[in-house]
Amino acid sequence: MMHEMAKTFFITTAIDYTNSPPHVGHAYEKVLADVIARYHGLKGEKVFFLTGVDQHGQKVQQSAAKTGVPPAEFVKGITQKFIDLWKKLDVQYDDWAETISDRHKKVVQGILQRLFNQGQIYKDKQAGYYSVRQEQFLTDKERGPDGQFGPEWGEIEFREEENYYFKLNQYKDWLLKYLDNRKDAVVPDFRQTELRNAAEKTSGDLCISRPKSRLDWGIELPFAKDFVTYVWFDALTNYISFAGYDPSKSNIEHQPSNFRDKWPALQIIGKDILVPAHGIYWLIMLRAMGFPDDQMPQLLVHGWWNISGAKMSKSVGNIVDPFVLVDKYGADALRYYLMSDMATGQDADFSEERLIERYNSDLANSLGNLLNRTLNMAARYQGSRIESPQGEWLQNPNEGSGKSYAEQIVKKRDSYNSHMSAGRRLPLDLPITFGAFVVNAAIEDVSGSADQANALVETVAPWKLARGSDTQSKAKLNAVLYSLVETLRIIAILVSPVIPQAAHGIFDQLNWKMELRRKEERFSLADAEWGRLPDGHVVGKPTPLFPRIES
Ligand code: MSP
Repeated sequence: MMHEMAKTFFITTAIDYTNSPPHVGHAYEKVLADVIARYHGLKGEKVFFLTGVDQHGQKVQQSAAKTGVPPAEFVKGITQKFIDLWKKLDVQYDDWAETISDRHKKVVQGILQRLFNQGQIYKDKQAGYYSVRQEQFLTDKERGPDGQFGPEWGEIEFREEENYYFKLNQYKDWLLKYLDNRKDAVVPDFRQTELRNAAEKTSGDLCISRPKSRLDWGIELPFAKDFVTYVWFDALTNYISFAGYDPSKSNIEHQPSNFRDKWPALQIIGKDILVPAHGIYWLIMLRAMGFPDDQMPQLLVHGWWNISGAKMSKSVGNIVDPFVLVDKYGADALRYYLMSDMATGQDADFSEERLIERYNSDLANSLGNLLNRTLNMAARYQGSRIESPQGEWLQNPNEGSGKSYAEQIVKKRDSYNSHMSAGRRLPLDLPITFGAFVVNAAIEDVSGSADQANALVETVAPWKLARGSDTQSKAKLNAVLYSLVETLRIIAILVSPVIPQAAHGIFDQLNWKMELRRKEERFSLADAEWGRLPDGHVVGKPTPLFPRIES
């Protein structure tokens, strides 16, 4: 009998070019993937999170040449910077893609050879004007209004060059149909519309090679030793080469179970590499390799972090260094800012003042203060011991308010869950974009719970109850503290994908799941139920979790 294994949740990111060190845009994407990966871990799923670096190509060869070191050595140094940053930022991937590895090279060559044998790759001659500086053929689109090529192209010469081409164009109709049939192929949905429009206009095949005389820092074509494969067949293939794909098998049914258990992936990319790279080339490459429609990955496209509305760039000198930010504010503070201050899919403006503002208001003033005052009151009023409230006070210590306090916290949790999930898993009466990985909205649900708990403290004023000596006041005081501790316990679980260190800190101070200290298994969505705190639980002593940042 066939044994159906539970499917692994597979998530990938773009692999970063190793021509210069990571900046805050790279950090955003990897943290976003890490948060979604951790969220699926919370749900108890098996998770495989793949990220890595794109080490071949012209840009890298040029940057290496400028520093005067061989590309292999140059790439090692930059790669290490990425690895160091992910460690510093608590980005916990399960495998690391390096495109110079043998494992990757074998898969790329295996795929190219198979497509070549099937007649999907052919050789052709291109003749035309060529920019030596930009290393590319120019078309009429590049001509200025005066009909000339502008100075940005440098020296122009007429060239004839033979190269290999992949028959992209023959799959255009398939791609359009696929996009029409699957409304959540790309999220958010305005990006799918953008792709659909671009796919309609696409024409021609894809040049996939460069003669070694021009570029030799790449993977050699297995059927033409004087050429390397150029950019996309190398880079995009990482998503399957590091997931166990066997290039010799075109039928997906014959792929190793290790691969089939994971694929298809949720793939996180920036808006600049949707069209044409991922949306057109990658989907068509997969199709040509034999992947059926139901085995196509889903693309989650994020926006860009800008600086005062402008692009970050080395030449402008406005690159934001994530290492500096982590050293100054800590990994959690940067993660929290990146995840909460950008609406997933949209662009945002990076500002250090904003980072400080959000940290101080959401973390120091709201959540940190809630933890601190709760544990202080618990210690002062009842020796840190929390009893299970009786009757309706279990759900609602503020009986006058009418609405059940616990119910509102649970509602926020449910809203958090739908925001963290893929749109297609939502009930049909909600629009797709509403729940599709809107991490910033999920964070708002959590900070909303903290606000609600703080509001409860203000309305019931536990210090007044503590002055009463009657059993009624005492019981009510305990019920309020119980509600606050339950809220904090649930918040810690929900916020753990975003600020894992702080979540551990909250659990530590609540004296909760101490046997699993520092282990991620401490956090599970199944525990985010109201009323799990056992009768007579003794909470810990408060220590400031989010000291205010004074700017
Ligand atoms: N190597 C290619 C991707 C190959 S994927 C098979 C590449 N590398 S990159 O280093 O230029 O960009 C890597 C990722 O970082 C991309 O998804 C890109 O959108 C993202 N970002 C680069 N700058 C960014 C911002 N300023 N803001 C947010 N993300 C940005 O493209």
